[in-house]
Amino acid sequence: MFSRFRKDQPGAAAPVSRAVPQAHDALPPLPEKAKPAMAMRQRAKPQPAAPATPDKDRRRRQRILELKSDMHTRLLDNLNLAAVDAASEAELRAEIAAITTEALNEASVVLTSEERMTLIQDLYFEVRGLGPLEPLLKDDTINDILVNGPQRVFVERAGKLELSDVTFKDERHLMRIIDKIVSAVGRRVDESNPYVDARLADGSRFNAMVPPVAVDGSLVSIRKFKKEKLGIDDLVQFGAFSEEMALYLEAAVATRLNIIVSGGTGSGKTTTLNALSSFIDSSERILTIEDTAELQLQQPHVGRMESRPAKVEGKGAVTQRDCLKNALRMRPDRIIVGETRGEEVIDMLQAMNTGHDGSMTTIHANSARDGVSRLENMVAMAGIEMPLRAVRSQIASAVNLIVQASRLQDGSRRMVSITEITGMEGDVISMQEVFRFERTGLEPNGKIIGHFTGTGIRSNFADRFKRWGYDLPNPIYDVIGER
Ligand SMILES: Nc1ncnc2c1ncn2[C@@H]1O[C@H](COP(=O)(O)OP(=O)(O)OP(=O)(O)O)[C@@H](O)[C@H]1O
Ligand SMILES: [Mg+2]
Repeated sequence: MFSRFRKDQPGAAAPVSRAVPQAHDALPPLPEKAKPAMAMRQRAKPQPAAPATPDKDRRRRQRILELKSDMHTRLLDNLNLAAVDAASEAELRAEIAAITTEALNEASVVLTSEERMTLIQDLYFEVRGLGPLEPLLKDDTINDILVNGPQRVFVERAGKLELSDVTFKDERHLMRIIDKIVSAVGRRVDESNPYVDARLADGSRFNAMVPPVAVDGSLVSIRKFKKEKLGIDDLVQFGAFSEEMALYLEAAVATRLNIIVSGGTGSGKTTTLNALSSFIDSSERILTIEDTAELQLQQPHVGRMESRPAKVEGKGAVTQRDCLKNALRMRPDRIIVGETRGEEVIDMLQAMNTGHDGSMTTIHANSARDGVSRLENMVAMAGIEMPLRAVRSQIASAVNLIVQASRLQDGSRRMVSITEITGMEGDVISMQEVFRFERTGLEPNGKIIGHFTGTGIRSNFADRFKRWGYDLPNPIYDVIGER
């Protein structure tokens, strides 16, 4: 039966090498006696499905978990992984269902049809997908998946972190899934190489750190890739910024101001950058540079670059700076750097200062002022010996606008400030805030009450906007009282 997927060798325990080496190979096969473990735990009579007490319920769940784990080992031992790779979903599901039925009969375990379906589904995800992570990856309401060791898997929904009911059997199980992900992209993670950045097949951003550096079990963070990126209209509708701010940002992008989106981790920087890019004219040639390609520009003329870490032997790295230097030779109209975090800051500032107006990037900072300090620090860390005043004047002439994104304590993501850089006053970079989020209170359920408002200061670029055909009405800068 189902011989197409089964290994040729009779008996599950035969120590044969598989056709295609897989991450699973790292696992030693279960000892022979572990296989009939289900039979050893066999009760006198098949157990009916109806749970009686919570304790019994818990024991039953635990038993199903054990069963799943046994079954998984059995599957890996039995299946010809090369054939599995080639099999269609339906074929593989049928095969898994058959092996499951066989094993359940052998162990005299009776499951409800729902439990059986779930078991087959979970096993399918183990063999073909990313095991327990798979349902979370498929759930569109989840933005981030954060694994803190095998027993604690958190997810972020609507800006709030919650503990999910997903668990891995143990650290080995978790490591196997990590291995599966990183080996698919030709990387490795182990004691001597304890952390890794990768991109999943669906575009999601993936980072893992394994023990002993990760003290309580492997740490995994996944930023889910959204096929449908949030656009300007969505963001206005979600309350990320106001229509007035959208009008202003349209003018700022279209008139080629150099823009930095600043914000904390997960505050919506990349989303904002992506949405802002929609204001770029479709005739322009845009080059994007990222560590992990997340941006999805809609224009027809986009060149995407992704930096690459060094290979295991320490060679082959292509940094964002390398990409940026090369990009300048590729006749870009605009350059977009996903996140400036290191030495590439030098080339970014230079590009902004030398004819690549309208370039954009994000930085990790908590306010516009803080963002400028971060830029200064990055320049200093890049080893450039320049007096502070010179660095500041470079920044002041390169950057026109800092847009501050923030994830507020109620989980909402908002553009809390739009600040223009207006020049230098003595040794200090001068700035003016034109829009901000005014927080006015807190609802009993913890939701933040507030509204967006102008600061009453007319944009320093108002004349430029006008010259380019974006004659914004002055009232958009008005201070708005509580609504
Ligand atoms: N205004 C918003 N409303 C709802 N969800 C949002 C909003 N902005 C961003 N998100 C979602 O929040 C998550 C994090 O956003 P994003 O990747 O843009 O953050 P980031 O600041 O770039 O994060 P990182 O620091 O990790 O690069 C994404 O899943 C995104 O879809
Ligand atoms: Mg980002």
